[in-house]
Amino acid sequence: MQRSSPSSVREAFLSFQPPAVGEEEVEAVAAALRSGWLTSGPRAAELERRFAELTGARHALAVSSGTAALQLALVAGGIGAGDEVITSPITWPATANVVVHAGARPVFCDVRESDLTIDPELVVAAATPRTRAVIPVDFAGQPCDLDPTIALARERGWLVVEDAAHAVESAYRGRKVGSIADVTCFSLYATKNVAAGEGGVVTTDRDEIADEIRELRLMRRGDGAHYDVRRAGFKANLADVNAAIALCQLDKLERHREVRLAHVAAYDRAVAGLAGVTPLARDPRDTHALHLYVVRIDATLAGATRDEYQRALAAENIGTSIHFLPVHRLTFYRERFPDQARLPVAELAGAEVLSLPLSPAHTAADIRDAIEALRRVHARFTGR
Ligand SMILES: Cc1ncc(COP(=O)(O)O)c(C=O)c1O
Repeated sequence: MQRSSPSSVREAFLSFQPPAVGEEEVEAVAAALRSGWLTSGPRAAELERRFAELTGARHALAVSSGTAALQLALVAGGIGAGDEVITSPITWPATANVVVHAGARPVFCDVRESDLTIDPELVVAAATPRTRAVIPVDFAGQPCDLDPTIALARERGWLVVEDAAHAVESAYRGRKVGSIADVTCFSLYATKNVAAGEGGVVTTDRDEIADEIRELRLMRRGDGAHYDVRRAGFKANLADVNAAIALCQLDKLERHREVRLAHVAAYDRAVAGLAGVTPLARDPRDTHALHLYVVRIDATLAGATRDEYQRALAAENIGTSIHFLPVHRLTFYRERFPDQARLPVAELAGAEVLSLPLSPAHTAADIRDAIEALRRVHARFTGR
């Protein structure tokens, strides 16, 4: 990283996604500790009730992470050795890692240029007789195009596990994410829109999948006194201490969304004037969760590469991040699955995407600083 210079836009470094927690969360954690419930208890149960209400799903199950949510969904859905699971390369590696841990093979399918979500037309081409499931990813908070993907899955008998780690507030064509796919997996990780530090929630209308996950997340069936183990389960329940934080964050969801909307509008206005700096599309028919503000840096028009922009912004004391490097090009996936198809849209995007600071903890002045830095850097690189 380049060191910040005395003439940086900001004196103090602007974190990319600081948590928006306050005294409410501090008090809720203290109350959980005083209650004697450290592990899953009434707060985790309340979180499940709130998620079922928010999404309209029949079941909501609190688990220890978004990764655990995905893993339990696959295992409960019967995915295992010899199966193939189609997913997007533009995601956090967790989405593909859980497929490997289930004993199945991830098959990566290219994404749409507009919003970098999985391209339903290409899902058909990625299918083989071994395909058993598809995991579309609601990248940045934009729901993926679920109707054609689900229609294909119904026709072929596949399970649809939606990775909604970025998509707590999202709705697809007016339908709430969490109530559309067979199983939907949310993350409560520290940077997410509902941040609990660590945590996840699975929603589903399928009773048998919910029952299986209840058993798998606590390694047993029954009430503790008379338990049985039918299969090797996991330890993936959510602690009440984390659930207490998540409940406060749910209370703040609307207020935080207002802040995100204002920040996103400021970015939209600013980047409209910067050649070669283009935000991802947000489909007006859907509700976007505004989890990330991702721009693509076209080096020819913007005068420098994404990596040069990221370094120059860091020198201005502005933190950014990269979502995502295409999973199929990471070492493990290249070595373990050398015959994966090339995915030109995802591979170019992986070199161009840059996520700008976006959190409800940021003030309007913070976002103005980020924009000012981006303008300065752009002017320098383009010579304008
Ligand atoms: C798209 C996506 N899927 C899954 C996960 C995994 O969630 P967690 O970190 O809660 O395990 C993340 C990130 O954290 C993510 O960004």
